[in-house]
Amino acid sequence: MNKIDKHLAIYPGSFDPLTRGHEDIVRRALRFADHVIVAVAHRRTQQKTGLFDIGERVEMIRSVFADDPRVEAAEFEGLLVNYARKRGARIIIRGLRAVSDFEYEFQMALMNRQLWDDLETVFLAPDTQYSFLSASLVREIASLGGDISEFVSPSVLNHLQAKFPAK
Ligand code: PNS
Repeated sequence: MNKIDKHLAIYPGSFDPLTRGHEDIVRRALRFADHVIVAVAHRRTQQKTGLFDIGERVEMIRSVFADDPRVEAAEFEGLLVNYARKRGARIIIRGLRAVSDFEYEFQMALMNRQLWDDLETVFLAPDTQYSFLSASLVREIASLGGDISEFVSPSVLNHLQAKFPAK
């Protein structure tokens, strides 16, 4: 295991794509963490259909946080706990939008801690303006030609527009 860095946090997820809600969670995490790794998982715990490949998702995260050296875009394969150990991080960040998120998040947090007792999951509430926002809704609206410009950063918007050119 690498040396533990108490000020390092990992924010794992699918980020397909990164939304303004995710960005808000990263900025909140930076209030107590010195460095946040936004880590795209190769495998998810729940089955979901993907739009962007892992490399594209990492690239979008990198471009959104290009001005902030405290934020790193990364990807990981396998178990999150193994990745956290490898990176020397003991803090996992997850956003909680609503009570409906809670059951799944609580289960994951406890299972991760069962797998590695040193790991703590910190849940952050997003700004209320993002409490309804999800990457899956952004994908759906974009695929149907709706305006998603207020829900994602310009670089993510460009990627979505390339996937779903206006007819
Ligand atoms: O954004 P998501 O899809 O809700 O994120 C879920 C994610 C990627 C954090 C979760 O599926 C995960 O940690 N996957 C890595 C594999 C793993 O460690 N599974 C066991 C979790 S208890």
